[in-house]
Amino acid sequence: MKLIKNLGVLTSGGDSPGMNAAIRAIVRTALNKGLVPYGIKRGYQGMIQGDIEKIKTTDVSNIIQRGGTILKSARSKEFMTDEGMETAYKQLQKHQIDGLIMIGGDGTFRGAAAFSERFQIPSIGVPGTIDNDLNGTDFTIGFDTAVNTAVWAIDKIRDTAESHERVFIVEVMGRDAGYIALYSGIACGAEHIFVPEKKESLDEFLNDLCDDRRRKKLTNIIVIAEGDEFGGANELAKVIVKRLPIEPRVTILGHIQRGGSPTCFDRILSSRLGHAAVEAIVQGERQMMVGLVNNRITLTPFTKTTKLNKPFPKDMEKIIQVLSS
Ligand code: F6P
Repeated sequence: MKLIKNLGVLTSGGDSPGMNAAIRAIVRTALNKGLVPYGIKRGYQGMIQGDIEKIKTTDVSNIIQRGGTILKSARSKEFMTDEGMETAYKQLQKHQIDGLIMIGGDGTFRGAAAFSERFQIPSIGVPGTIDNDLNGTDFTIGFDTAVNTAVWAIDKIRDTAESHERVFIVEVMGRDAGYIALYSGIACGAEHIFVPEKKESLDEFLNDLCDDRRRKKLTNIIVIAEGDEFGGANELAKVIVKRLPIEPRVTILGHIQRGGSPTCFDRILSSRLGHAAVEAIVQGERQMMVGLVNNRITLTPFTKTTKLNKPFPKDMEKIIQVLSS
């Protein structure tokens, strides 16, 4: 097995709180093991452009608590083309980078699988996305912080909703994934949640709303993932206005969920996974994502990390209505 000397690190796709803590863990573990870490800016796009520099231990001082990513991030369409990949590989050769660690979500690992297969470059992934939609880890870096941000916001919304006895629809992030909606919905005692993973009957939902009013339960918090089949909060509000004598208010939380200082949980997750990623690559693991399953470090091939393989927690879904009645 060829030993790795120069290790490239990048963050790609939507950023997530805790990415900086993961970069810090990767850089310091790499230095501890005698590797030379290189930061690749703006994900795969920066790789194509050769935006690559050595990182020193002091470069990652004072970042464990900071949201965002010091390496910047991007979604690169060019990298998915033959020419894009060739150019990216030439840039790595120029800097004599012989191993890669990429922090990101499913798009990042799709790119990683194709690139590492084609050029046989040893690569390890670290799951970093607020969506928590990767198979092979119970939690992704940034999810806990995003849920806490959503909960912080929805608690405030409930205060005003209670005062005015209103129905509120709160849209949280998740283009194809309902984990933020599910977790923040349960934590805030939401009366209804809508997630892309589950088809809902509109008639049943509207009947429930009417039942609540008959029981004089006039305050209602509905949490909906942006990628739900109804098309998000504004679309759901239109349906309610059309069919019932209710005027819901809509709040879209948006990118606030992607920023902020990572929670203690995310800092520890990032530190463990960043450290584990370097250990894995040094020990000869290839084309795998590190994850945490039942509090143990695991490795999952890039090709199996897509959310299609990750079961949605049906038991949690079930308790929403019971607990909020
Ligand atoms: O990173 C995941 C995510 O925040 C999704 O929840 C959301 O749909 C998407 O990214 C938004 O991406 P962008 O910031 O590129 O619009």
